[in-house]
Amino acid sequence: MDDLQLNHISKSFSGNYALRDITMSCRCGEVHALLGENGAGKSTLLKVLSGAYHPDEGEIYISGEKAFIHSPSDAMKYGIGCVYQELSFIPDLTVAENIFIGRIPKTRFGSFDHKELRKMALELFRKYDVPEMDPDAKAGMISLSQKQIMEILKVLSKDPKIVILDEATSALEENRVRWLLELARRLADEGKIVLFISHRMAEIQDGCDRISILRNGEYIGTRDVNENLDMDEVISMMLGRKMSSYFPDIIDHSTTEPALEMQNVTYERALNGVNMKLYKGEVLGVAGLAGQGQTELLQAFYGIHKVNGTVLMNGQQVNIRNPKWAIANKIALVPEERGIQGLFLNLGIDFNISISSIDKLSHALLVNKKKEEDLVSKYTNLLSVKAASTRSLASELSGGNQQKVVMAKIMSCEPEIFLMHDITRGVDIGTKKEMFTLVRQIAEQGKAVLYFSTDVEELERICDRVIVMRDGRVVGDFKGAELNKENIIGASIGIEERGASSGK
Ligand SMILES: Nc1ncnc2c1ncn2[C@@H]1O[C@H](COP(=O)(O)OP(=O)(O)OP(=O)(O)O)[C@@H](O)[C@H]1O
Ligand SMILES: [Mg+2]
Repeated sequence: MDDLQLNHISKSFSGNYALRDITMSCRCGEVHALLGENGAGKSTLLKVLSGAYHPDEGEIYISGEKAFIHSPSDAMKYGIGCVYQELSFIPDLTVAENIFIGRIPKTRFGSFDHKELRKMALELFRKYDVPEMDPDAKAGMISLSQKQIMEILKVLSKDPKIVILDEATSALEENRVRWLLELARRLADEGKIVLFISHRMAEIQDGCDRISILRNGEYIGTRDVNENLDMDEVISMMLGRKMSSYFPDIIDHSTTEPALEMQNVTYERALNGVNMKLYKGEVLGVAGLAGQGQTELLQAFYGIHKVNGTVLMNGQQVNIRNPKWAIANKIALVPEERGIQGLFLNLGIDFNISISSIDKLSHALLVNKKKEEDLVSKYTNLLSVKAASTRSLASELSGGNQQKVVMAKIMSCEPEIFLMHDITRGVDIGTKKEMFTLVRQIAEQGKAVLYFSTDVEELERICDRVIVMRDGRVVGDFKGAELNKENIIGASIGIEERGASSGK
């Protein structure tokens, strides 16, 4: 028997199977990837292991012994540590308090020993090579990537033998993705089991030893990652069908009419004199290393930041004073953190989608139910949201399906200008393909899309033009034959200006 053995695990929610008779195993010393479409059952399986869910049927064996896992604290006793897909920190507590919550040291007078806590945190950061983390920063104030690192350290601080990383790379900055892959390898080399979920095939091929594939809650098979691995076969196992070319053919529909424009715009230290135009009918990519002002650029156009300089919409100078103004003027944002900024998690899919269109659906304060249902089903179908019903709560959806609902909600408002923040984060490859097609269709209809992505290939293949940001400025602008990975990366790291711009 292998070191971790799952036998005949089944789990259903309100009569719908999320997992059906799963039997699979993992070995100490391996990084084992779990692959599958959005809603395939990956997170549910991991939650069964981490004690968050109790399976309806099935058994778990650890090192040959039957494990009785009824709660997260049981799981911890068996050395299982899980970094969940959805972050779950307390924003008002500090980073150190979040990491050591429930284990905060006390002074001999019984009060919290902040000095000792700080020491413990710094030790942990040193051990795992995270020098930039501030233990005293409020968790709500740090970047998404830092929040993700904090969650990883929280789990590692308990020294687990089985480490579960559910989509932990999707929120990480690029250099930290490498860090996590190396960390996973180091943990495996120490004899641990690392269970790794990601929708990015390159990471799986780079960092994992074996892949197990789930489809519709069923176990499909396991493959070794080596030179004989047939990725096309793996994708077919995931999707249940072959997938033709991933990126759509692009026809440029951009006009010469600017939808949005910035002239010498500044905002705190994030934007340092931005000049750019987004044209109607255009998908304009925003690239750059992490934290160079890209997020603030999108947020500024949505009225989240009060900027200095000139902002124009449809050629007219405007003051996008707040998101309400933006929405009223048909500007929509797909936000960075779907859970916090994009959805009402405790409400249904239907409500989440229709809330933004409530004016269109109501007459004399009465909501037209039929119209509402039509609207909801139109957009859930368009984005192939996988859920038991449109009344399912957003919190019951898989991570990728939550992302689709955020998109559905925004599409349903029929905006003219879309600000898209990494829309394919956590989305499976089949759905990514659908989203790419959708983005191109939006542009074809003459609407404008500002498209931020951390994936350079995606920018190269989906956008008509890409601007590159560095240090709060636009330092590159590529279109046509010039729009390629080399130019984007070159401008991101400043190759073309090396020497010339060395004012600093
Ligand atoms: N608490 C819940 N209540 C009801 N249904 C649930 C619950 N949790 C998960 N499900 C359903 O179980 C199925 C599997 O979801 P799961 O989160 O495991 O998918 P996943 O493979 O992790 O997908 P993703 O890649 O999008 O994260 C989905 O259809 C989901 O809607
Ligand atoms: Mg999941």
